[in-house]
Amino acid sequence: MSHTLLVVAHPRTDSLTAQVAARLHAAVKDRGDSMDMLDLYAEGFDPRLGEPDEPDWEDREKRYSPEVHAHMERVAAADEIIVVFPVWWFGLPAIAKGWIDRVWNYGFAYGRSKPCLRGKRMRWLGLAGGSEQDYADAGLAAAMDVQLRVGVSEFCGIDDAAVHLVYGTELSGVPATARPDHVHRILDTAEAAISS
Ligand SMILES: Cc1cc2nc3c(=O)[nH]c(=O)nc-3n(C[C@H](O)[C@H](O)[C@H](O)COP(=O)(O)O)c2cc1C
Repeated sequence: MSHTLLVVAHPRTDSLTAQVAARLHAAVKDRGDSMDMLDLYAEGFDPRLGEPDEPDWEDREKRYSPEVHAHMERVAAADEIIVVFPVWWFGLPAIAKGWIDRVWNYGFAYGRSKPCLRGKRMRWLGLAGGSEQDYADAGLAAAMDVQLRVGVSEFCGIDDAAVHLVYGTELSGVPATARPDHVHRILDTAEAAISS
């Protein structure tokens, strides 16, 4: 049995991001696997990196804050890590960026000849208001892929990593009658992306 850590970064429980997370949760359960749902807003995660969580480059064994160590244990326990987030300014929302800053810390996520996180599978799933064409034309999909897959996952020794973007998630331009089908498609696309 595999264990998934599903990290969700959205302030609203009725957001598309939350709906996608619920769909992925159900899919993992259907597979018979276990899941730890980490809703960063609901758990009140503080994304600010304070002095106790600053890396000490001369001490890989540094004890960070208790909150950070509790999160490290949840990451370490997972075979698969999925981060579901709305794309904000072509990157992670601050709360998810702060989770990486604080928890994916020196000595734990990187800085060892044998990376602690090697062998895990990681998927980044971003909900993007823009279109696939916009992202391709401006090189933004490639930029996010390099930033998250290479800059975080692979940097931390996780080679089985991928970034998936689900486009057209801004519903304000979609007529009310077309929204249920539109949302349905987004959820199906998200589940298919994560399963691949
Ligand atoms: C602060 C902020 C920044 C955003 N920046 C982007 C962006 O850079 N690119 C993009 O495609 N959409 C952007 N959007 C649109 C969101 O990605 C979109 O509204 C979201 O995916 C819809 O899903 P939700 O219901 O889960 O929020 C932004 C939205 C907000 C609130």
